[in-house]
Amino acid sequence: STVALAFSGGLDTTVCVPLLKEEYGYDDVVGVTVDVGQPEAEFDEAEETAEALDLEHYVVDATEAFADLCLQSVRANADYQGYPLGTALARPVIAQAILDVAEEQGCAAIAHGCTGKGNDQLRFEAVWRDSDLEVIAPVRELGLTREWEMEYAAEKDLPVEGGNEGAWSIDTNLWSRSVEGDDLEDPGYVPPEDIYEWTETPGSRDAELVEVEFEDGYAVGLDGETLDATDLIEQLNEVAGAHGVGRTDMMEDRMLGLKVRENYEHPAATALLTAHEALEGLVLTQEERSFKSQVDRQWGEKAYEGLIAAPLVTALEGFIDATQSRVTGTVTLKLEGGQCRAVGRESDYAVYSESAASFNTETVDGIAQADATGVAKYHGFQSRLANAVLAKAGAD
Ligand code: ARG
Ligand code: SIN
Repeated sequence: STVALAFSGGLDTTVCVPLLKEEYGYDDVVGVTVDVGQPEAEFDEAEETAEALDLEHYVVDATEAFADLCLQSVRANADYQGYPLGTALARPVIAQAILDVAEEQGCAAIAHGCTGKGNDQLRFEAVWRDSDLEVIAPVRELGLTREWEMEYAAEKDLPVEGGNEGAWSIDTNLWSRSVEGDDLEDPGYVPPEDIYEWTETPGSRDAELVEVEFEDGYAVGLDGETLDATDLIEQLNEVAGAHGVGRTDMMEDRMLGLKVRENYEHPAATALLTAHEALEGLVLTQEERSFKSQVDRQWGEKAYEGLIAAPLVTALEGFIDATQSRVTGTVTLKLEGGQCRAVGRESDYAVYSESAASFNTETVDGIAQADATGVAKYHGFQSRLANAVLAKAGAD
């Protein structure tokens, strides 16, 4: 019988191909690579590796669906501990696409190359265990280490990359690029510049402004040009990446409880999240912003878990939709020295009265400065009273 394998052409999934035959007894392995906007080069590599392995290989293009999901995550200002969730958002999309192929091809089983220590195993299996297929995780079940995999690959003459590229575990999609493993596992080890591919060394160019246009909370254009989701993210990765924007070096608390040192690059995500939050600052009320930060946090946590199909997420999106109808307008970002800051924002829905906030006007809508005197007298009244009670109790 046949097993479908989530195949990237990297070390883990490459060693899985012979192992699924040798250790699990499958007659045939079908590799499935899902395009979620990896750079063309990585993609060609997967095809070449498949060819060298004599692996029947399918490629499914899910870029558009994934790009839409990325822009949807911006409406929720989505991150997890500061990481904009690229890998996490892509997994359910990839898992579903592979499951569709596996079912079409009449496979009996479906496999991934994730370890038993990470998040990805949980995200894939959350989708796959909703099917009748056998789920296989060779790396986890056979207790493989990357060192063992490299030796096994050399022994079997498998087509794997040499050098550090092979030692690091890299995961790339339209939204982010993650690099982990090997010497990076020491939290004190300062990463060399060559772990980065999307971001230039910060400070190597002059500052640049870029204008991001939003409609209903969705990013729809750059510098006055309307773009679809994929093009917009790709262009912004280039523009912001050139300024070294969007590097994260963090300790990440994984679902299983392990703390892991992670490095990410995500120029477009950083730029869009910064711009979106700046626009919300102009158009949402204080109480909407305060409550939305809790909704956003929940959305980010479910996305991190790979559970965007949870009913809770649909409910959270009900609130998000209600707020985003006013998140229409333009934000100007300044890209400079690895930083991205909002330096201008405009919207027809601005909850803002320049004359009311200005130091140069005395009376607004019939309210004079002196009218605040009563408010100022009351402000802090309860605290003063409570503190006086405590002081008196302490004195007795
Ligand atoms: N820890 C991150 C996450 O859970 C990224 C994992 C990426 N995988 C990799 N092999 N580098 O989203
Ligand atoms: C892995 O452990 O397979 C990759 C990292 C992760 O899933 O978090």
